[in-house]
Amino acid sequence: MAYPAVRSFALFRADGHAIVVSMSEPLIDIVPVSGHLGAARWQAVAPRGAVAGVASLRPIIPVGPSTPELTVYVDPAWRRRGIGSRLLAAVRAQVAEPRLVADVVPGSPGEAFCQRHGFRHARSRRHHLLTYCDVHRAWLGELVDAEHAGYRLTHWTGDLPDAPRVEELLRSPSRPGNALLTAVDADGDLAAYAVAVVGVLPETRAQQWGPAVLSGHRGRRLGRWVNAALIQRLSEVHPHVTGIETATAEGDRHLQDLGFRLVRRTHLYVSRST
Ligand SMILES: CC(C)(COP(=O)(O)OP(=O)(O)OC[C@H]1O[C@@H](n2cnc3c(N)ncnc32)[C@H](O)[C@@H]1OP(=O)(O)O)[C@@H](O)C(=O)NCCC(=O)NCCS
Repeated sequence: MAYPAVRSFALFRADGHAIVVSMSEPLIDIVPVSGHLGAARWQAVAPRGAVAGVASLRPIIPVGPSTPELTVYVDPAWRRRGIGSRLLAAVRAQVAEPRLVADVVPGSPGEAFCQRHGFRHARSRRHHLLTYCDVHRAWLGELVDAEHAGYRLTHWTGDLPDAPRVEELLRSPSRPGNALLTAVDADGDLAAYAVAVVGVLPETRAQQWGPAVLSGHRGRRLGRWVNAALIQRLSEVHPHVTGIETATAEGDRHLQDLGFRLVRRTHLYVSRST
């Protein structure tokens, strides 16, 4: 009778000491678990319930149709045993979307993993952080109050439904929730918008998407205006938030004008699940 290969590897106790255990990889279960904020989630569970790795999917942009962003994380003690690959296979088996994206640090195991699984490098990204303690509130207020002839600022707050359309959100009543949408319109026509989503407490950073300025309205500083208004309103609605993170394509400069600073660069990889 053939037995599966048994390998040994280390788990770590809370005091940092390694506990060497023997385990065969087939005993790792990949199970779907419920995620929050619209994320689908899978866990790689070892016997006795230790979580060796997790995978999750969430929309890369929270409004409108968008490609799901994949995140895979395997505990360092369990790496290079095929667990990341099994998590990815479980994701691919259970989702209908043909394309996934993954954001990885250049030169990291994550990049090697994506290349191994046939993802291709699509573009570079810059991640910026704005911390509220660095924001000059009076200057921000002046930016928000500046006149933009023919344009008007509006805000919507609530929890984002699945793949919402910006225009529909703006037509629906605001309510308490983790998302803030700030928009600029010209006589009711959407011209620009930006979205921020606040994590679950004790998370004190928000994620920002946009600003997006629609064609026909560009070159009028609407992006900076709508972003300044979002920053200001976010601190009013969610005063516990201490900073805002956002990712943009290389070469995007308006964020520095508002006080965002570059914190890291990543590579965005794209795959086909078929
Ligand atoms: C990336 C990550 C999920 C890989 O998990 P894993 O369980 O070690 O992955 P696998 O064992 O299934 O590796 C599959 C293949 O990916 C490649 N790979 C994975 N880690 C690698 C590394 N450190 N160096 C080079 N290649 C690597 C190899 O081709 C590997 O096959 P091989 O072991 O037969 O050579 C894990 O390193 C991790 O959690 N990193 C931090 C989070 C991250 O960067 N995630 C990005 C993915 S969205």
